[in-house]
Amino acid sequence: MAATIMPMPSFTPVRHVTTHLSVAAARWRGVALVLSGLVAQLGAPGVASAAASYDDVRGLLERHCTACHQGANAPLGLKLDSLAGVLAGSSRGPVVKPGNAAGSELLRRLKGQSQPRMPLTGPPFLSDADVGLFEAWIAGGLAPGSTSGSASSQVSAAASAPSALRTGPPTWRDVAPIFATRCTKCHSPQGQMGPAPEGVVLTSYEAVLASTDRVRVVPGRPEASELVRRIRGQSLPRMPFDGPPYLSDGEIDLVTAWIAAGARDSAGTPAPMPVGARIRLRGVLSADGTLDGLELSTSSGRDGGRGGRRDRSPQPGAGVEVRGTVQSDGSIAVDRLRRR
Ligand code: HEC
Ligand code: HEC
Repeated sequence: MAATIMPMPSFTPVRHVTTHLSVAAARWRGVALVLSGLVAQLGAPGVASAAASYDDVRGLLERHCTACHQGANAPLGLKLDSLAGVLAGSSRGPVVKPGNAAGSELLRRLKGQSQPRMPLTGPPFLSDADVGLFEAWIAGGLAPGSTSGSASSQVSAAASAPSALRTGPPTWRDVAPIFATRCTKCHSPQGQMGPAPEGVVLTSYEAVLASTDRVRVVPGRPEASELVRRIRGQSLPRMPFDGPPYLSDGEIDLVTAWIAAGARDSAGTPAPMPVGARIRLRGVLSADGTLDGLELSTSSGRDGGRGGRRDRSPQPGAGVEVRGTVQSDGSIAVDRLRRR
């Protein structure tokens, strides 16, 4: 990257190149171009650092932003997968103002001066050095860099690579875009319906796993997770509340697999079991006494193992609401089961 190249101690690379004159001519021309660029920078010290261009931030946008900010469901219509998209801004207006970094919403979001802070998947957020690149690019007038032709098609191939090349169990990185595009318009501290419905905030990993009030995700136990029951429609009203359309089968499978594999954070670390946390599940009581197949443990310490309080003895097939606590193995000890 041109902006980070420091003045060279010697011209070693030139010797290196001259000993490889037999390499393909195209490659040789490429090396020669780089070298002449370096010489130009060496001749004008200090100029290089100010000349940040889109080239300097494009990789960062791909790595941290375009999982959500691209395509038809881009949040607020803000597409960050091309220079044109960045410049077009969101449904609220421009997000970058040439020459005015401090007044640019994109930078404010990166620094957390505007909430929710970006990337929505953070923490971690961008390093100071990376934020500085955006700052320099905006302050310098949004220079386009070398964005054209084959370079941009390489970019879009790279942008689609992360999901295609995904290996190992799904992490927060894989499911966050689903919540961001389909849920956070309501489930954020100040959403479309005012404060988050039922206090369920889905804008960050920590919020989704929060257990202060009651838990909606039990790591390793999708069937005991109200979040899964809601997107499947086992628990009503089905989510997203403004559906149909609801989530696609593929999206539901991905969220289910994410929880089954331990509701891992972006780094791949499984979430701890929220032992003792309160939980409320809705569903249909099956003939075998399960809630849509979920075993309900009746050995809650609270009632001396007598099996929780059952109001009006709901019959199989009845819609019920279960309240209980999460046990260390992820099972649910029922405190109360009632018809709903
Ligand atoms: C997990 C999905 C996700 C990721 C990743 C993400 N965003 Fe966002 N972004 C959102 C959502 C959702 C909103 C809308 C939030 C709101 O209500 O302001 C948003 C809003 C924004 C806005 C506000 C636009 C405006 O006009 O108010 C900016 C700017 C932004 N994002 C930039 C970024 C940048 C830059 C990155 C990467 C460093 C990033 N986002 C990563 C989901 C995401
Ligand atoms: C249009 C607004 C809206 C959208 C979009 C939305 N929800 Fe909801 N959500 C609500 C409302 C309202 C409730 C409370 C409904 C009730 O239970 O009576 C709710 C309740 C919930 C609950 C139950 C919380 C509890 O108390 O246990 C969960 C879980 C949930 N939503 C998850 C989601 C998920 C996941 C998505 C995205 C796939 C989503 N919601 C999209 C409005 C929304």
